[in-house]
Amino acid sequence: MCQGKEIIAERIKAIPPSPTLTITAKAKALRAAGEDVISLAAGEPDFDTPDHIKKAAIDAIHSGFTKYTEVGGIPELKEAVAQYIKMEYGLSYTLDEIMISCGGKQALYNLFQVILEPGDEVIIPAPYWVSYPPIVILSGGRPIIVKTREEDGFRLRAEDIKPYIGPKTKAIIINSPSNPTGSIYAKEDLLKIAELIIGYNIHIISDDVYHKIILDDIEWCCIASLGKEVKKRTFIINSASKTYAMTGWRIGYLIGNKNVIKAATRVQSQSTSNPNSIAQKAALAALTGPQDFVRGFVEVFKKRRDLLMENLAKIPGVSCFRPQGTFYAFPRFSSYFNKKIKDSLKFTEYLLEEAKVAVVPGIAFGSDGFVRLSFATSLDTIEEGLFRIKKALDKL
Ligand SMILES: Cc1ncc(COP(=O)(O)O)c(C=O)c1O
Repeated sequence: MCQGKEIIAERIKAIPPSPTLTITAKAKALRAAGEDVISLAAGEPDFDTPDHIKKAAIDAIHSGFTKYTEVGGIPELKEAVAQYIKMEYGLSYTLDEIMISCGGKQALYNLFQVILEPGDEVIIPAPYWVSYPPIVILSGGRPIIVKTREEDGFRLRAEDIKPYIGPKTKAIIINSPSNPTGSIYAKEDLLKIAELIIGYNIHIISDDVYHKIILDDIEWCCIASLGKEVKKRTFIINSASKTYAMTGWRIGYLIGNKNVIKAATRVQSQSTSNPNSIAQKAALAALTGPQDFVRGFVEVFKKRRDLLMENLAKIPGVSCFRPQGTFYAFPRFSSYFNKKIKDSLKFTEYLLEEAKVAVVPGIAFGSDGFVRLSFATSLDTIEEGLFRIKKALDKL
């Protein structure tokens, strides 16, 4: 290192350390020391990737499909995405409006690299998925956090957005179903937001990665389907990760304005290059193959959600919005905060030390006072985890 020269760039220093990593590292250390630690922190389905998807990958390897592909994804996969979106959303897109990426996260990263000028603002409703603010910052933008209310089911109201819109506002993120709250926007809510946005030169990023994990009898709707004008302004992010239990395969996609897709593909060409060729073939099998097992996954998540809510209700002083989608719940535990346990990070450390249960602190999602509990784990683990949490809290 050159003396006097800082090695870490300023924009990287602006990325806060992840509270999730702190907890995960502590949980690991406890496990290594022989402690029986339970995790309610998983951010992915606990199911294995279905066999027909694995087989497509194995066939791809055997047939030598192991070279570079088109940077923005193979045409067959883009075609499959177009067909899938037509079926799921009722929307038509051409192949030049679709880019395949290394997961939904890379799609978001490339998109922000393309659309943000330095200082451009992105409205992010809180609680938010942990990666939105850092990705905006890494792309030179400014995250503008707008709090939602628990009593509104953590849904942003159009009138809440208006005061935050200014000359620098470039985009707003809508994530429905939401990580971490499991809340889903109703069509009427989205219509109001769409009407507001159309009046301004703002883009919408619809992060739909949980759109198939709907636990109640609710009609899911993507804001892009609410008219031509709003479709023009919307970028869809979706992924094979959560729907098909394919988190490690790293296949996602970005859909929207073809000039932006072209530019995002240029970003991809100078960073990751194409998404993994074998994983693309696996994702093709996922999108074009049988879909009924997804309903099976959802039925399992539903049972787990119900058990989690039942057991949470036994803990006094805790409120929790009943998740309508995803595999997360976001209960408020702030009534247990005290002089020593001042915030959600300290609270999760207490649960780990006292109950040997790992959960994610609400502060990671921009909402201290809460924790995220994942029910992507067995019924026994959920029951035991909640039992231990209650016992630990009884001591406070
Ligand atoms: C809300 C949300 N969006 C996007 C992603 C990105 O998923 P992936 O990059 O695996 O497609 C995740 C993953 O946890 C998520 O929770």
